[in-house]
Amino acid sequence: MNGNTDTSNRPELIDVSVLYVEDDDKIREGLMRFLTRRFKTVLTAMDGEEGLSVFIAKTPDIVITDIKMPIMDGIEMIKNIKQRSPDTPVVITTAFTDVSYMIKAIELRADAYVRKPIDKDDLFNLLNKILIRRQTPTDDTSIIKREVQLLRDRYEKMKRMLMGAVEAASHALATIDHFTADHQRRVAGLSEAIVAEMSLSEDIIFKIKIAAMLHDIGKMHVPAEILTKPAGLTEIERAVVKTHAMAGYEFLRKIDFTFPLADIVLQHHEKYNGSGYPLGLNGSNILVEARVLNVADVVEAMSSGRPYRPSLGLDMALGEISDRRGVLYDPDVVDACLNVFGKDFKFQE
Ligand SMILES: [Fe+2]
Repeated sequence: MNGNTDTSNRPELIDVSVLYVEDDDKIREGLMRFLTRRFKTVLTAMDGEEGLSVFIAKTPDIVITDIKMPIMDGIEMIKNIKQRSPDTPVVITTAFTDVSYMIKAIELRADAYVRKPIDKDDLFNLLNKILIRRQTPTDDTSIIKREVQLLRDRYEKMKRMLMGAVEAASHALATIDHFTADHQRRVAGLSEAIVAEMSLSEDIIFKIKIAAMLHDIGKMHVPAEILTKPAGLTEIERAVVKTHAMAGYEFLRKIDFTFPLADIVLQHHEKYNGSGYPLGLNGSNILVEARVLNVADVVEAMSSGRPYRPSLGLDMALGEISDRRGVLYDPDVVDACLNVFGKDFKFQE
């Protein structure tokens, strides 16, 4: 940590303490030189852990931080700082490629951001506006609120774009395998209703919808003659079908989503008691989105017709999840699913 508190010859310095956290030595030293010519106290740290220690020890007025850093990243540090001091403004510095980190920072109520490479004058103007906002806390049109709103708007736009891309992929899949595409769409509708019934966050609703729309995408890896086989599958064919969970994971894992989409898809056939596949995970070791998906998947699959059998009916599907509640299926998810149908949920045709 470095500090500059010698102000004897610098009456023009703004009487504010700034903490700047950045792991890149060159960037940190360059900006520190700039900041020390403008602010009375400038503290620096090289990673989130050191930044948090300095924050606790010195309680600076403003924090400027990189987000991708070793040891403790900026996200974790902001979380800790905002828990301790929700009103301390935090400005994140971010490269264009760090969008998913930036979104996480917004979710943690980061107050503003500057793009890397940092335009020092832009940063200085932003810090000044934040300081003015601190002095006039009733000013609702503050730059901070506008900045945060701008980030939120962009986040919402990104979510819409992602949903649009997923829907396009789903339509494309429908031309090859309409059973799977219809199944995914119907599972998405039921999963969304279950999550809403469980009073989980809006964000989980979005995640579950995306995951449900893609959960069987790995079936593109399974030969069509097996997927559409009119009679029952052999042992080997069943084993081939089961590879779709891992294949879906492989399709999706390289995409930098803001949530673990590939893992949700990987886990959608795991069972509450650990008897599922491919990993044999159990209980809360299975992501909650995957536990919801699993119940919705079973109910939709049983209550719809398949190439090899007619529909078994909704009553039998709900009987299955009730009978194995807490064994194969998460009891909270089963309860929510039963409530959803109790409120007359209908699958979209
Ligand atoms: Fe599946």
